[in-house]
Amino acid sequence: MSGNIVILKGSPRKKGNSSVLADRAAQGARDAGASVKCFELHELQLHPCDGCDACRSAGGCVISDDMEIIYGELAKADGVIFASPIYWFTYSAQLKVCIDRLYALWNSDHDSFKGKRFGIILTYGDEDLYTSGAINAMHTFESMSRFLGSKITGWVHGSVGDIGDALKDPGLMGKAYQLGKTIVQPVA
Ligand SMILES: Cc1cc2nc3c(=O)[nH]c(=O)nc-3n(C[C@H](O)[C@H](O)[C@H](O)COP(=O)(O)O)c2cc1C
Repeated sequence: MSGNIVILKGSPRKKGNSSVLADRAAQGARDAGASVKCFELHELQLHPCDGCDACRSAGGCVISDDMEIIYGELAKADGVIFASPIYWFTYSAQLKVCIDRLYALWNSDHDSFKGKRFGIILTYGDEDLYTSGAINAMHTFESMSRFLGSKITGWVHGSVGDIGDALKDPGLMGKAYQLGKTIVQPVA
């Protein structure tokens, strides 16, 4: 099996829990024969969408920043893994800025994400999906994939607070590896 997988990491902590789980998913995808490109969004220059709507006529976003690299990789991707901590009951601002900018891809080609597979990794400090607010992020990803015509092929979420906690949870690490393997497989 081969394929191109893009990973968008939304945590500012390079060795944080969502990042470690995303790396495990990357390993699963590579072991299944995929090529993986990973982006640490916190380290990139990403301007928020300014809502100018120039992408409707320009054929793409007119803002010149690191999003240009991500757009190029997303165009080739068969699957996208979104990995983020829960910040204030949803995914992080770093990931939100990047997702807002996907508007330009959709505006230039409404089918730009059709058939692409999505994998979602969420980590949080509170007890469960509801008290943490992870459920809000999940609902957003479900709405997003329904709108774009993409397919969510795997979820990994867990309560892990401090750096290193995810590494101590073999069950969670195993689920992340499996998410990586699954996203490489075409959806029937
Ligand atoms: C700014 C900020 C906001 C947070 N908000 C929440 C929250 O709303 N719900 C929650 O359960 N945990 C919250 N947390 C805890 C993180 O989600 C948790 O530590 C997570 O494992 C961090 O993931 P990371 O290691 O990938 O950065 C917050 C942490 C920070 C720094």
